[in-house]
Amino acid sequence: MSMEQPSGAVAIAAAARLLEQGGLVAFPTETVYGLGADAENPAAVEQIYLAKGRPANHPLIVHLAPEADIDYWSDAVDESARRLIAAFWPGPLTLILSRASHIPDTAAGGQQSIGLRCPSHPVAQALLRDFKAGRGGIAAPSANRFGHVSPTLAQHVRDEFRDAPLLSCVLEGGQSAVGIESTILDLSRGTPVLLRPGHVDSLQIAEVLGVMPALPDAAAPRASGTLASHYAPRTPLVMVATDELAAILSNVQKAGRRVALMHHSGIENIGASSDAVAAIARAVMPGEPVGYAHDLYAALRRLDQCGADLILVETLPDSAPWQAVGDRLKRAAHGSADVLVRMLL
Ligand code: TXA
Ligand code: MG
Repeated sequence: MSMEQPSGAVAIAAAARLLEQGGLVAFPTETVYGLGADAENPAAVEQIYLAKGRPANHPLIVHLAPEADIDYWSDAVDESARRLIAAFWPGPLTLILSRASHIPDTAAGGQQSIGLRCPSHPVAQALLRDFKAGRGGIAAPSANRFGHVSPTLAQHVRDEFRDAPLLSCVLEGGQSAVGIESTILDLSRGTPVLLRPGHVDSLQIAEVLGVMPALPDAAAPRASGTLASHYAPRTPLVMVATDELAAILSNVQKAGRRVALMHHSGIENIGASSDAVAAIARAVMPGEPVGYAHDLYAALRRLDQCGADLILVETLPDSAPWQAVGDRLKRAAHGSADVLVRMLL
C-alpha cells in the first residue's frame, strides 16, 4: 500500500502547465489512473498512443471538470444524456455522444462521436479546474501498456512506464476507490448501448432512462476494453469453479507447476489441503463485488509478479452486481484455457 500523500496544489499546477504545453501527465481517478494529454492538441494526443503502444483508431475518453460546458464538446446532448449526467457525474460513467465538429478527431480515434466523463477524484478535479482554467478536456486512457492490467496506484503507473521518457509527471492520489474502469454507455446511436460494464450498472442506468441499455452488437465501435483479450496479466490466468479448485490445484502442483490462487470463498469451502495452499501465492478477495473490484488489479499485479506459471481464479457468481468484475476477469483469461490442458497432459 502506498503511503504517498495526494499531490498538492503546486504539483497539480505544474502538471496543468505541462499539459497546456503538449506534455503527458498521469493522474488518479476514482476508477483507475489515467494517462492524460490535451484533448484538443492532436500532437499531444499522439504521444499517448505512442507511450501506450495503442492502435491509433481506438478512441480515448475525454475528462471534463464538473463545471465544464458539455455542449462545447457535443452538438447533440439530449434529455437522456442530461438526466444521466445529473444522476452520475461526477463519477464512473462515460457517455459516448455525437462529437462537435470543432473538436479534433484524434482523441476520438477518428469516430464521429466522443467519449466524455467527469471524474470524482479530488486530484483529477483540481487538475481539470486548473488546466485551461477549467475549459479544457484531458484525453486519457488507463495509464498502462496496451492490453495490460490497469493501474490503481501511482506506483503501478511508474512500474508500467519505467523506461518511457515521454512520461515525466505522475500525480499521486492513493488507491483508486472504485478500482475498475468506468461504465461506458453509447448514446450516439439511437438506443443506449452498454459498451463496457462498470460500477454504475445497467439497472441503475435503467432507473434513470426508463429502459435497459442494449448489449453491443457487431456495429459497436472498437473499444479497447471490449477486445476479447484485455486487462491481462503476463502469467496465464484460468477461471475454475469453486468445487473444482482443490482438484485442479493439486493436479497442477503434482505436474510440477507453481500456482497462484485468487479466491473469494473461504478456504474451508474450497477444500484444498492446507499444505497445498501454504505453498502458493494467494489473494483472498472480498466476497462482494464492490470490494472485489477495488482490490482486483492490485491483486492481479501481485500474483503476476510472484513467479507462478499459472494464476487460478475462482469463478464469480452470475448475478448483475458481479457483471463488471466478471467481464474484466473473462478478458484477462482469454486464450489461457489450453495452457491448463497442456500443463495437465
Ligand atoms: O475509468 C475510465 O474510463 C478510465 C479513467 C482513466 O477515466 N479510462 C479508461 O480509458 O478506461 P481506456 O482508454 O482504457 O478505455 C476507454 C474506452 C475504450 O475502450 C474506448 O474505445 C472507449 O472508451 N471509447 C472512448 N471514446 C469512444 C467513442 N467515441 N466511441 C466508442 N468507444 C469509445
Ligand atoms: Mg484501458
